Amino acid sequence: MRRLRSNETFCSQGVILRGLVCLICAAVGVLVSQLYQYISRTEVILQRVFTTVTLLEEQLSGHDFPLAAAAIIEEPVNGQPLASIIEGATPFLIAKNDEIELSKVNAEVEGDHLQRLSRQDNLTLCDRDQIELFAKYAGKNRGSGAKDFSWNSFSQSAEFYSHLDSVTNADESRGCAIFDVGANNGHISIAVVEALQRVAAETERIRKVTGSICELYLYEPVPGTHKLAVEEIKKSVAKAALPHIHIFQKGMSDRMGSMTIGFGKPGDASASVNDAHNYVNKEQVEVTTLDNEILTFAKNDRVAVIKIDVEGHEARVLKGLASALQDQQVECLIWERHKAWRKQLKLPSLKNEIDLVSRSGYFVYYASKDEVLRVDGDYWHERLEPRYVKLDVFAVRGNSTLNQYFDRKLLPSCRQNLY
Ligand SMILES: *[C@@H]1O[C@H](CO)[C@@H](O)[C@H](O)[C@H]1NC(C)=O
Ligand SMILES: *[C@@H]1O[C@H](CO)[C@@H](O)[C@H](O)[C@H]1NC(C)=O
Repeated sequence: MRRLRSNETFCSQGVILRGLVCLICAAVGVLVSQLYQYISRTEVILQRVFTTVTLLEEQLSGHDFPLAAAAIIEEPVNGQPLASIIEGATPFLIAKNDEIELSKVNAEVEGDHLQRLSRQDNLTLCDRDQIELFAKYAGKNRGSGAKDFSWNSFSQSAEFYSHLDSVTNADESRGCAIFDVGANNGHISIAVVEALQRVAAETERIRKVTGSICELYLYEPVPGTHKLAVEEIKKSVAKAALPHIHIFQKGMSDRMGSMTIGFGKPGDASASVNDAHNYVNKEQVEVTTLDNEILTFAKNDRVAVIKIDVEGHEARVLKGLASALQDQQVECLIWERHKAWRKQLKLPSLKNEIDLVSRSGYFVYYASKDEVLRVDGDYWHERLEPRYVKLDVFAVRGNSTLNQYFDRKLLPSCRQNLY
């Protein structure tokens, strides 16, 4: 554009010989402005993935060109260009450190991307915002994957538990239970006990301050890791809380029986019943279902939280919880979807798991750093399929107060029609 402007000055000199050049300039000007108008009609999701995008912004700043470009940098994530993370949402593919020229952008727009652009027009505002947020989220988690989100610590904090009715409602006639499936060395349960003790102190439930408000059930099938969990819990948890913590050397699945689990060193967090890794050790372990465990230990309790971290076996564990979900006995479920599983373990869409829980009256969310995406029902979009991202998926019972907290973290455009 700057060049065009300097051509105008050049034309205004009024030199006759240069008239033809001016005509061409004008024609190009009209063409470019037509193209701009076309693009401005076509709203595209802006994905500010990496800094190079600012180059594009600079190129376009000062013009009436709406920033409508989805710019993605061709930087491999596990060998895949980032562009393919969000399928179909890559109108412009811009290589790292590439000088972005308008002509190149235009050429792309004129190409086969037109179809994609118009398809994107059908998305609702919430969809667009969600996908944009997801793109940002995906960008932050490239490379080695698992980053510690503040949400991870949130779900182990006193604040989180203070939003759970199962914990705060002083219904003394019913107990409260928390299940930690794939407990590893017990570190999450240790944090949970501390959080519960803070909630107990704050809510002046003095009787239980010395112990725990809820009973904790930990499941860790790997022998060495189970032993580690027992030791860590003993070492780290206040004596008074110990009787409330029950640690089982069992795996969790959709049926009772036994399974082979592969694992590395004790405490190795990637132990799995899936064969995707080349494990040094394998062992036959007893497995159970959450429905069975709830029936056995917490039949009349409010189940506040079930945390499931079983390295790709989550869908089966959820299946084994179908009956407690149907009864809406569980207030909040947290499970993990790791970036590489879909491909490595050939897992079906996460939507299956989301549908399974939302059918029973749960709202389902992805938790990003500071924001939350609602992903169940009409909020789902195929582009929200986590393929290369580690995500924590939260399912919250429809009537839980926790939804109000999550609601405040939702994108404004997705907030309406929530309830
Ligand atoms: C988008 O909407 C148009 C007009 O309603 C419709 O013809 C088209 O099939 C839709 N495309 C998709 C992908 O849903
Ligand atoms: C929410 O639903 C569960 C299951 O139906 C029920 O037990 C509980 O009392 C409800 N809580 C509130 C606050 O309505």
